[in-house]
Amino acid sequence: MSLVCLEDFQAQAREHLSKSSWDFIDGGADDSFTLDDNIAAFKRIRLRPRFLKDMSEVDTRTTIQGKEISAPIGIAPTGFHCLAWPDGEMSTARAAQAAGICYITSTYASCTLEDIVTAAPGGLRWFQFYVQPDRQLNKQLIQRAESLGFKALVITVDVPTVGNRRHDIRNKLDLKRNLLLKDLRSPKERDSTPHLQMSPINPSLCWNDLSWYQSITQLPIILKGILTKEDAELAVKHNVHGIIVSNHGGRQLDGVAASIDALTEVVTAVKGKIEVYLDGGIRTGNDVLKALALGAKCVFLGRPILWGLACKGEHGILEVLNILKKEFHTSMTLTGRSLPARSHSCRHHAFREDELTSRVHPPLAGAAATEPRNLDSARRPGGSRGLRAPELPRNLITTCSHLHRLPFQNARHCQRQLPSSTG
Ligand SMILES: Cc1cc2nc3c(=O)[nH]c(=O)nc-3n(C[C@H](O)[C@H](O)[C@H](O)COP(=O)(O)O)c2cc1C
Repeated sequence: MSLVCLEDFQAQAREHLSKSSWDFIDGGADDSFTLDDNIAAFKRIRLRPRFLKDMSEVDTRTTIQGKEISAPIGIAPTGFHCLAWPDGEMSTARAAQAAGICYITSTYASCTLEDIVTAAPGGLRWFQFYVQPDRQLNKQLIQRAESLGFKALVITVDVPTVGNRRHDIRNKLDLKRNLLLKDLRSPKERDSTPHLQMSPINPSLCWNDLSWYQSITQLPIILKGILTKEDAELAVKHNVHGIIVSNHGGRQLDGVAASIDALTEVVTAVKGKIEVYLDGGIRTGNDVLKALALGAKCVFLGRPILWGLACKGEHGILEVLNILKKEFHTSMTLTGRSLPARSHSCRHHAFREDELTSRVHPPLAGAAATEPRNLDSARRPGGSRGLRAPELPRNLITTCSHLHRLPFQNARHCQRQLPSSTG
């Protein structure tokens, strides 16, 4: 079967993985309401294309934390890549380097940070950090990542305890029995300890602790898992450099908003003072475009990367990334959003023209409340499709529950387009 979209990889990955590994990757918390909604929420948003613009040159490049990437698409941190492919995170790092995008490496990587860096020395990498109860270990690990060339510290804040993942409980999944988490011990201990215990995440982390992390590293600190304006404002107050709007792919607190629905609230609260990114439910180039139009600087992918890895290792990930980049390029071209200039000031200027049009995007929370649902359909492989370059305007999109306000829109387009494929 030819693999032409991310859902094709999803279907094929399922065939390559054991049931317990598939369930671990695919699953959400509790009723998986948020997991499903991450995908469905993108389908409630409609694009507003503009035509008769010169689209002969479209440039997907952007920057995050001052570093250039080939497209506003990156790899979210996910643990245990050796479950999907023997080379694990080393393959992931090579694919990210080849694609020219950022790879956020998880604390729960199954390869050491040193091996990951050696596999792809030229790649842009951030280090995702689960705060451990042992401060000394935290310091050691962060400073090690910094000396290895990781360019940002991503602190995940939405895991004071692990979400209730029913599949993993039923499958009696015990990752620490067969996986090495070498990074959680000092080099000396790593050599002498064949199988390491996964340390519990420190549930006592709070806002005031951030200054200690800022004192031990020069790396910009990014908080992953922020969903509300209150926390976004606190993040700015505590001088962090970025926020990843995320609900952990629906694996933590079930019933929270889809990431794309929480984005506007966070973007509005930070008032442009720090960069805001998004993960959760990105499956097509259109999804990327929508997230960027709503204010994200870059999006990150979790599960689709693991699908690519499970299917064909590093080449599978590269294919997933290339498909998404190509789709994003097409989405930009078809909506009339080129980024002709290479410098950011020029790009910004290019989009000012769009700001002259009226802003039709309503609050997404309202759309979520009024939209009919078909969650089973939304969860089928094929259920999600995944741009935004840095300054895409919000008036690029609208949501279907508000289309009646728009005299120029045809109501027929308001119907949700659920995927026809199953899998
Ligand atoms: C199998 C798996 C493992 C994950 N491991 C981590 C992790 O170690 N650290 C972390 O901050 N987030 C982790 N996440 C959450 C992802 O970083 C990301 O928020 C989520 O997958 C995005 O949703 P998506 O899968 O729909 O793209 C994990 C997600 C999955 C599916």
